[in-house]
Amino acid sequence: MQNDQQFIANSTIKNTASFHSFTWEAPSNIALIKYWGKSTPQLPKNASLSFTLSESRTITTVEFTKRTTSPQTVDFTLFFDGIKHDSFKPKIANFFLRIAPYTPFLQDYQLCIKTKNTFPHSSGIASSASGMAALALCIMSLEKTINPSISEAYFYRKASFLARLGSGSASRSVEGPLILWGKHSEFTQSSDLYAIPITTDIDPIFNTYKDTILLVDEGEKQVSSTVGHELMHHHPFAETRFEQANKNLSDLLKAMKAGDLNRFIHIVEKEALSLHAMMMTSSPYFILMKPNTLKIIHKIWEFRASSKLHLCFTLDAGANVHLLFPESEAEEVNAFILNELLSLCQNKRYICDSVGLGATQL
Ligand code: DP6
Repeated sequence: MQNDQQFIANSTIKNTASFHSFTWEAPSNIALIKYWGKSTPQLPKNASLSFTLSESRTITTVEFTKRTTSPQTVDFTLFFDGIKHDSFKPKIANFFLRIAPYTPFLQDYQLCIKTKNTFPHSSGIASSASGMAALALCIMSLEKTINPSISEAYFYRKASFLARLGSGSASRSVEGPLILWGKHSEFTQSSDLYAIPITTDIDPIFNTYKDTILLVDEGEKQVSSTVGHELMHHHPFAETRFEQANKNLSDLLKAMKAGDLNRFIHIVEKEALSLHAMMMTSSPYFILMKPNTLKIIHKIWEFRASSKLHLCFTLDAGANVHLLFPESEAEEVNAFILNELLSLCQNKRYICDSVGLGATQL
């Protein structure tokens, strides 16, 4: 078991300043190897690998005002797009409960959280990854102010650790461009507790990758990730799936080091379909793809066969399709998207994103 004690803040150092404000912008991420299945507290059943994105981001400011009394719970108000949002509070309150042992200093403050996304809330793009990462980073900025001796490496590692306790995939939204979360036998530095950047020699073409997100269904998610993860507990194929994901991760990284785009495509698409196969074979079972999701997939396969270009897709827990391709092929691929795929999107809506470097402090 890995040691979470390293993340308990030193509570002997006290801060006397009465007010602090920090703003962080954190990106969304798209998993190439999927996290689906976890144990308490937010520990993944297999390692996952993601591209950090750059355009789909959450911008969060947290104002910390010193309190005279220190009740046991964190006291906060939450504004989303300038409007007070009590409906989001339970998730954040739960997050504060989970991180409390590691952030005792938070009890000394009243928090005002002001957050907004660069992507539309109704787009079906999950904001929990970027949102929890931005919040965790604001909390780390306060910890760094109270205890300036913490190193930069510790700062980012603990930010990922805290973000994970809010939402698993949020652990992968702190740094970039290629991020590994979960213990994997081939990476001694890897951990179930936090995510790390992959720094080994990946072919530079992957730093140029585009992710065009086709908004097939902009509605609320039919099944929350939390419920989906739970269904893996009694899933007949769970253990095989966890092994498959770890093996796919090794194979994908080999392909990425070799610059083997065809192998990359094969593994990334297999992962997306395996994730959805788990949903279709759980109890209760469900299908998150829509008819247009399948139409888009078939069109991508036809386009790839005829053009020999390297466009592929991945899916998260919904109907939207992420189109991945290298920048060098963007002209032809963009024409194909506009001519053939946009009519299959809800209200012809899509988001153009690309691989990014991680969160920034504003
Ligand atoms: C399908 O991170 O949203 O997007 O830890 O319960 O918040 P919680 O789940 P979440 O699950 C993400 C699932 C996924 C695959 C992935 O991003 O790896």
